[in-house]
Amino acid sequence: MATAYDNAVKQGLAKDDGAAPAVAVEDVRKAFDGHTVLNGVNLGVNRGETLAVLGRSGTGKSVLLRLIIGLEKPDSGSICIQGQDIAGLALDQMGEIRKKMGFLFQHAALYDSLTVGENVAFPLRHHRGEMSKADRDECVNELLAEVGMAGNLKKMPADISGGMQKRVGLARALALKPEILLLDEPTAGLDPISSGEINELILKLQRERQMASVVVTHNMHSARTIANRLAILNEGDVVIQGTYEDLQQSDIGFVKEFLKLS
Ligand SMILES: Nc1ncnc2c1ncn2[C@@H]1O[C@H](COP(=O)(O)OP(=O)(O)O)[C@@H](O)[C@H]1O
Ligand SMILES: [Mg+2]
Repeated sequence: MATAYDNAVKQGLAKDDGAAPAVAVEDVRKAFDGHTVLNGVNLGVNRGETLAVLGRSGTGKSVLLRLIIGLEKPDSGSICIQGQDIAGLALDQMGEIRKKMGFLFQHAALYDSLTVGENVAFPLRHHRGEMSKADRDECVNELLAEVGMAGNLKKMPADISGGMQKRVGLARALALKPEILLLDEPTAGLDPISSGEINELILKLQRERQMASVVVTHNMHSARTIANRLAILNEGDVVIQGTYEDLQQSDIGFVKEFLKLS
């Protein structure tokens, strides 16, 4: 029987280099209370590659990310992380896989009552219990420097700008050295200049860390800046996926409309 990986290769979604894609989503369906949100979605992301998932509000982009992280289960279909189907995994196995994934939730979701430094230290405290306080402090300082937030250790989330909050969220997402990075609307709610800066930061992180990334956005400009490939989601289906040039050459009415409006 063909595996999700074989199918991903066949559909041109994964390179046939012998290694499983970082993320392979195959024929995934998900409904809430009888309302179908994802209706047979196929996506693949290779190591070192960034896929942007675009679509209007309410099309299931965040649900898709939550399925990949394993916070929700698909009604049918499969999700493989580095070749491993996460459907049947026990909690501890899922925990191991999740450590390979860094994620930034849609609303940055920093802990309001913790300082910037404590927010970034949080995953280290929970998953790297063996780390000494001195090592952890050093790691937090390095992470904050990496996202351009050195010197902001003691600030509270409420006292920094939206763009800075996203930076801290990114530093926290990177704390466990993820191989896969999942970003939900990393520039939503930011002014154009801050958005541009966050896009540049994401590109820099990709270059330095060579992660596989899935970036959800409704901003075509962001998508084109940071991603190798783009996928447009509409009414439960991936309408098209490919490079921006592929999208531009599409005859699909929805794709033309989407490009015109964004
Ligand atoms: N836990 C849930 N329970 C019920 N409905 C949900 C749940 N999560 C998402 N939905 C619904 O699924 C649809 C897609 O949501 P979402 O993935 O957040 O959209 P997007 O991120 O593309 O804006 C929406 O109609 C939303 O109301
Ligand atoms: Mg969303």
